[in-house]
Amino acid sequence: MDPVVVLVLCLSCLLLLSLWKQSSRKGKLPPGPTPLPVIGNILQLDVNDISKSLINLSKVYGPVFTLYLGLKPTVVLHGYEAVKEALIDLGEEFSGRGHFPIFERTSKGKGIVFSNGKRWKEIRRFCLMTLRNFGMGKRSIEARVQEEARCLVEELRKTNASPCNPTFILGCAPCNVICSIIFQNRFDYKDKNFLNLLELLNVNVKILSSPWVQVCNNFPAFIDYFPGSHNKLLKNVAYIRSYLLEKIKEQQKSLDINNPRDFIDCFLIKMEQEKHNQQSEFTIENLVTTTSDLFAAGTETMSTTLRYGLLLLIKHPEVTAKVQEEIDRVIGRHRIPCMQDKSHMPYMDAVVHEIQRYVDLLPTNLPHAVTHDTKFRNYLIPKGTTILTSLTSVLHDDKEFPNPGVFDPGHFLDKSGNFKKSDYFMPFSAGKRICAGEGLARMELFLFLTTILQKFTLKSVVDPKDIDTTPAANGFASVPPSYQLCFIPV
Ligand code: HEM
Repeated sequence: MDPVVVLVLCLSCLLLLSLWKQSSRKGKLPPGPTPLPVIGNILQLDVNDISKSLINLSKVYGPVFTLYLGLKPTVVLHGYEAVKEALIDLGEEFSGRGHFPIFERTSKGKGIVFSNGKRWKEIRRFCLMTLRNFGMGKRSIEARVQEEARCLVEELRKTNASPCNPTFILGCAPCNVICSIIFQNRFDYKDKNFLNLLELLNVNVKILSSPWVQVCNNFPAFIDYFPGSHNKLLKNVAYIRSYLLEKIKEQQKSLDINNPRDFIDCFLIKMEQEKHNQQSEFTIENLVTTTSDLFAAGTETMSTTLRYGLLLLIKHPEVTAKVQEEIDRVIGRHRIPCMQDKSHMPYMDAVVHEIQRYVDLLPTNLPHAVTHDTKFRNYLIPKGTTILTSLTSVLHDDKEFPNPGVFDPGHFLDKSGNFKKSDYFMPFSAGKRICAGEGLARMELFLFLTTILQKFTLKSVVDPKDIDTTPAANGFASVPPSYQLCFIPV
């Protein structure tokens, strides 16, 4: 038979098979737009603003709907009720991690972010315990963040009050906090190894946000057979992993099981305790992947939020003035800010919450998956189905936060100026898979921002009225536009 005919026949069979698979599962899944063969609903999504596409689709299909990203169905949950019902009320069922093919090549299901089942539970429990304030030996996490805040201020002083783009310096500080937690030492902001590590993380976030990687994630065959930026991402991850492996080997030589210095030591001690257990999850492979996960999850998230936060503060000088008045009153100009101060600083607390709410860092969260066949409302979602939760729809709910598009710390204050909690505050997600670094992130945001505002007046280089705070990119992460500001010592 003519090879062209064979090819056409094969392709037709594949198309029919995919259509059949889609329709046979559809009956149990929530409604959604009709997918095209092979590419599914990809053309109905704006890859540069997926969150906005989801808002539009939810207006047609309601708060729970199905999208086909390629051949696979993804159930989208939109709005507080649906997100809470899944992540909190059915926490166990919705605690799986959804597919992220590009990372499956590097993580191979190990570590914390992309693992599942027993492995994820054990590693997560260990991380949470170790990341608690006094989880690692004598030096508390708070002391490590305070030290970094002091170094950050020194670095900002070197700008001599002249206009600067704060991206680089605000990237160094959170990366150094992770370095200090994982392998005890922070780096000088000019250290070559450190700068290289930062650069690789930064390039990876950019590649991760590109439409090409979305294509690779939906058509994993592209990852193995096509050239493209995903190969650079894989190479960078491989480099970071080999760097971490070297560090681990160094620490193994000087390990004192009675005196853990950092996260790696704590993990190595656990490995030692479980060395006779064949099924133990405490292996070198899991240690390398977990530390690499902490770097990836804890660096760009923090630096982008800090950078966006300062932009909002120069756009709203009246808010900044009120924060500085509170800092002067509660801490003064000289004492180092500490976490205990937070309970006496409701305005600052509200400002930090409002920054995170407004920024909406990860608009569609990381993908989840259901761990069993799950009945949800009137639907049956098959085990393993990817679940996308719209955090934007919760953080920008207009009943909970009137004028959600406006930056207003009043969203988190009651009439008497006390801090007001909200169940809709979900930048870290919710439920069993909630950000494992939430405590650390909140500590860094409070201590870094308070220390900066204690020591500097922020000055915009343009009229605050002309500052545009709409995100420059809104794909996987929401990224602020590039800007300059001056740090004037007080
Ligand atoms: C402003 C800062 C941060 C934000 C907004 C943020 C947000 C998030 C979100 C939305 C998730 C996904 C949760 C889910 O799957 O439902 C996540 C996961 C995670 N984050 Fe963060 N994060 C931040 C900082 C950090 C830091 C500093 C660390 C470092 C320790 C960290 C470590 C992790 C880890 C390990 C996970 C995976 C948890 C798991 O799969 O069980 N994050 N984060």
